[in-house]
Amino acid sequence: MTLAVTAVSGQLGKAIATTLLARRPGQTLVGLARKPETARIDGLDMRPGDYTNHAQMTASLAGVDTLLLVSLNTAPDIRTEQHRTAIQAAKDAGVRRVVYTSVQGAETGTAFSPVIQSNRQTEADLVAAGFATTVGRNGIYIEPDIDYIETYAKDGEIANSAGDGLCGYTTRSELAAAYANLLLEEKHIGQTYHLHGPLMSQAALAQHLNRAFGTHLTYRAMSVEAYREDRKAALGAMMGTIIAGIYEGIRTGVFDRPSDFEKAAGRPHQSWDDYFASLGPAAAGPQPTGA
Ligand SMILES: NC(=O)c1ccc[n+]([C@@H]2O[C@H](COP(=O)([O-])OP(=O)(O)OC[C@H]3O[C@@H](n4cnc5c(N)ncnc54)[C@H](OP(=O)(O)O)[C@@H]3O)[C@@H](O)[C@H]2O)c1
Repeated sequence: MTLAVTAVSGQLGKAIATTLLARRPGQTLVGLARKPETARIDGLDMRPGDYTNHAQMTASLAGVDTLLLVSLNTAPDIRTEQHRTAIQAAKDAGVRRVVYTSVQGAETGTAFSPVIQSNRQTEADLVAAGFATTVGRNGIYIEPDIDYIETYAKDGEIANSAGDGLCGYTTRSELAAAYANLLLEEKHIGQTYHLHGPLMSQAALAQHLNRAFGTHLTYRAMSVEAYREDRKAALGAMMGTIIAGIYEGIRTGVFDRPSDFEKAAGRPHQSWDDYFASLGPAAAGPQPTGA
């Protein structure tokens, strides 16, 4: 059975492909990317895979039984149509089964909702197209907070509009473990799984970062409006509004829900203590109190 993974030039697609290669040594695994020559991964059968190019995608998916379709990061209205082109190509190529990397969030009422709606539309489009479909709805990636540590350290705080809301964060490597399972096990057909680890508040996130990086961060809650204006000034109207919408969702409890990670991955999600302890030499530094 030939499996394929799209967008392997991206961080999630690459993590899933690498995990699958380790789990199925010697078996054919197709990797699609817009620029296959620069996205090369040892062991992958690399093929061109631009979602906007139906003919190219159809040719590249020839002989593929099961496809891991990564959600794109384009604007929501464009994204839905790009996904539709890829879905039609998979249909025309004879793909039987699709596992789709969707996202969690409020379908209405926040600035992040158009992104959620476009993902829900793709979930529906896959079922309507007649694929044996499995949907993973990803929790919020924790890695951007790690990438942001220098800014947090400079500010001495994490400040946003999440308030006391709990969030089901996850990591791309944990998601890759779950998606590899979803691709390899047929029993997940027809399921929609919410994929995240233990719930975490912003105050707890600050404590984890303090232990891992030796910082002294505190958490400061901002109003939804103030944080939206702050992010728009920092990131521009579109991205600032989307990011603020995510934290608004955390505040209102949208990301405070049970996880299906263990059902998908066949094991529990990594604990946050273990994840932050794994971040490198800084993690072995002095431990702050008040955990
Ligand atoms: N859960 C979360 O917190 C969260 C956060 C951010 C994003 N997301 C979603 O998760 C997805 C995967 O995340 P990631 O970390 O892997 O993102 P990433 O590293 O930014 O990768 C995005 C991928 O999309 C590809 N792409 C963009 N337009 C394409 C097109 N027309 N045809 C084919 N490929 C195209 C990019 O290819 P190139 O290398 O050619 O540009 C890249 O491989 C994102 O796309 C987004 O939908 C989730």
